[in-house]
Amino acid sequence: MRLKDLLVEELRKRGINCISFKTAKAFKYDPFQFAALMIANGKMNVCEGEGKYKFDLEGNEVDECKFVLDKCEGIIDRELLLKKAEDFPYIAIDCRYHYLHSEKEFKSLVIQIKETLNVVREYMWDERLVIAGLKTDTNATHVDKLEDFLRDKKKIILLDPNAEDVFKGEKAEVYIIGGIVDKSGNKKGLTSKLGEELRRAGIKFESKKILLRGNVIGVPDRLNHIAEIVLKVVLDGKSVEEAIREVQPRKVAKWRLRIELPKFVEKIEMGGKKFRIVRKGVINKFDWLNVTEEDFYEVASEQGVIVVNDHFRVSDNS
Ligand SMILES: C[S@@+](CC[C@H](N)C(=O)[O-])C[C@H]1O[C@@H](n2cnc3c(N)ncnc32)[C@H](O)[C@@H]1O
Repeated sequence: MRLKDLLVEELRKRGINCISFKTAKAFKYDPFQFAALMIANGKMNVCEGEGKYKFDLEGNEVDECKFVLDKCEGIIDRELLLKKAEDFPYIAIDCRYHYLHSEKEFKSLVIQIKETLNVVREYMWDERLVIAGLKTDTNATHVDKLEDFLRDKKKIILLDPNAEDVFKGEKAEVYIIGGIVDKSGNKKGLTSKLGEELRRAGIKFESKKILLRGNVIGVPDRLNHIAEIVLKVVLDGKSVEEAIREVQPRKVAKWRLRIELPKFVEKIEMGGKKFRIVRKGVINKFDWLNVTEEDFYEVASEQGVIVVNDHFRVSDNS
């Protein structure tokens, strides 16, 4: 369930069957998540009135609506909506190691934090993103030390690619993501080090890695992608594999394909020469990866493997 679902539920409960908007921004976003976000961020309320763009609760445009999202005394306001939303989790990005980043990595870190906020806004609202150890010009919650924020939290999961346990969609109050961008490859194991620091400070938490069919390769590691995978699983109820598939960039899918393709390669000999082939239909075995036919041919070619049709037999051609 996303924040917008709580808003729609509350509107229904009150017999309100539409909202209108004064701004065309409602079209850019999902209108109800946009409304929920504005209310939760304390910028607008739902009140009586009429705006230009009108939607029923299924998101269809309608001709008339007597309720508007506006800066007004609300029928539904921040306090009311947030009381219903207490169980939403926090996504916390811990940036205590920002000083280890090169200039390029640091720039990417800030971009990824902003992209994570955009993800959080699709499901919840700004305050549910917590940034520790770094000031940014966003409306997320900022804290100096993550430990202080975690002190009264009951269930905490640290997402760590080097953890022993695998994330299977366990619910938590806080999901911690390391504010780490590792383009130079010199920050291996840093998330576990962050975990050690938290443990030393007396914070109780579980460490979990996200795997795709038993391997971290193929799991996108940008902060926004990790946050999106977690939110798709814990709020939308998707499986981890489904969530990964939905956010996985083709580039990351290809890394995994490079590992998987050799498992289907056949060695043949024709006219005294040795060849490595893969049947075209093998591509259908990779519907769990975000790869296209073009990617399949590209990876095969990189590996010196010839793609042949499914009925190919050596005796036909030798
Ligand atoms: C780019 S990764 C940095 C990983 C770092 N090089 C390390 O070895 O700890 C940034 C953050 O994304 C999260 N992350 C990335 N891939 C993950 C995975 N497969 N499982 C769990 N968390 C992951 C972690 O919270 C990690 O701190």
